[in-house]
Amino acid sequence: MSHSGNQAEAQNGGAHGNITEPQITRPDVGNKVAVVLGAQWGDEGKGKVVDLLAQDADIVCRCQGGNNAGHTVVVDSVEYDFHLLPSGIINPDVTAFIGNGVVIHLPGLFEEAEKNEHKGKSLKGWEKRLIISDRAHIVFDFHQAVDGVQEQQRQEQAGKNLGTTKKGIGPVYSAKAARSGLRICDLLADFNDFSERYKVLAHQYKAMYPTLEIDIEGELLRLKNYVERVKPMVRDGVYYMHKALHGPPKKILVEGANAALLDIDFGTYPFVTSSNCTVGGVCTGLGMPPQNVGDVFGVVKAYTTRVGIGAFPSEQSNDIGELLQTRGKEVGVTTGRKRRCGWLDLVLIRYAHMINGFTALALTKLDILDVFPEIKVGVSYTVDGQLIPHFPANQEVLQRVEVQYETLPGWSSDTSATRTFQELPKNAQKYVRYIEGHLGVPVKWIGVGKSRESMIQLF
Ligand code: GDP
Ligand code: IMO
Ligand code: MG
Repeated sequence: MSHSGNQAEAQNGGAHGNITEPQITRPDVGNKVAVVLGAQWGDEGKGKVVDLLAQDADIVCRCQGGNNAGHTVVVDSVEYDFHLLPSGIINPDVTAFIGNGVVIHLPGLFEEAEKNEHKGKSLKGWEKRLIISDRAHIVFDFHQAVDGVQEQQRQEQAGKNLGTTKKGIGPVYSAKAARSGLRICDLLADFNDFSERYKVLAHQYKAMYPTLEIDIEGELLRLKNYVERVKPMVRDGVYYMHKALHGPPKKILVEGANAALLDIDFGTYPFVTSSNCTVGGVCTGLGMPPQNVGDVFGVVKAYTTRVGIGAFPSEQSNDIGELLQTRGKEVGVTTGRKRRCGWLDLVLIRYAHMINGFTALALTKLDILDVFPEIKVGVSYTVDGQLIPHFPANQEVLQRVEVQYETLPGWSSDTSATRTFQELPKNAQKYVRYIEGHLGVPVKWIGVGKSRESMIQLF
């Protein structure tokens, strides 16, 4: 920032003084990262959008969440599913980076990589292309067990649970916030110290949940065996990102996990996950300044789905919901649970846009709507007959909202082979334009199928 104004002038002997004002030029911002974020309750098709963008990317990062995420990528009819690994790793030229905001279950990470490696050639050499931040927290087996016990207790005590993925996400982020968690840098330092701290943590959980069975020695032994394998992948994440941002031009992508309505601060609390799945999570989860955030792409499914429990205003617990579920094959990638389905709800996407500032949208699964003679879109909420301009924080209120719908004509024809916007039926084009107009955000891509090719690019 250059000094100017009266104070600086006075120090320099006045505007007409002969001391030259020092010029401190604005530092070069460096490379920008493009961010892909879920705009609903997850499973919008982030994996597929990242895969498309990763075709010419250098680095693909994950900044939050753990293996509660499930991202599907279909290449040459082979279906890969990613949970903890950034899906961009499928491109052999990509370096995948797991940032400090991610929580890592090491056995899960290796299992996932090996499973996908056996499916096709794309993951070849993945171990050399994966970088892990030393500040990332470790998910232990007992975190996953505690997740299960907590769910059981919620069911017994409150008559309902949260419907978590039981991947230990809540317990490990709780330990992080309580400052008792253990990180990758601890695992790679003195193993005796690490073991002691691990045991303290395990005993704390044992005291809290006496029925919990923890195989302390067994897990420590397994972790010790991972040390040598993980070591070459681990970096100081902040320094790694800084170098990536300020070195030669690079295309850097961030793959969001979970989604806006599952965000710990902005989601439908308490039926949320335990990390920030909105844009702020990019800076805190990678250790980078906000001015390096470039495009923020919101991924929006052409209708709405939700896995697990919690309010869902536009849910269709009827034939429409069932048709969306079966046509969309709406089954959770991580848990195999059926996803609840309903019409597109623009109120919640507008809310996600307020938080994230989407620069463009990817509208996925438009093909699933091919058979509906008419399509409804939620445009506003009323509570007790009053229109509300915001998205309610309180779950009891959210349960009571009435969605006001607009009805648009369907197109009753197969869009799965279309590859340009102009080829789409007129009513499908209108549906897309309606969404853009309502949100004031351009749609950049439209998904009409699972494969890489089934993506229409508009600009
Ligand atoms: P993510 O968690 O956001 O990455 O999404 P998931 O992978 O959990 O769920 C999206 C599902 O929809 C996957 O099975 C994808 O293969 C599939 N999918 C993504 N885009 C499209 C699309 O445009 N059309 C169809 N029919 N399926 C899609
Ligand atoms: P992707 O990245 C859909 C949901 C769970 C549960 C709640 C809390 O594939 O879009 P957690 O295990 O995180 O404590 O569970 O959040 N959930 C997701 N639902 N897609 C996801 O990820 C999800 N990640 C978490 O179903 O309701
Ligand atoms: Mg998913």
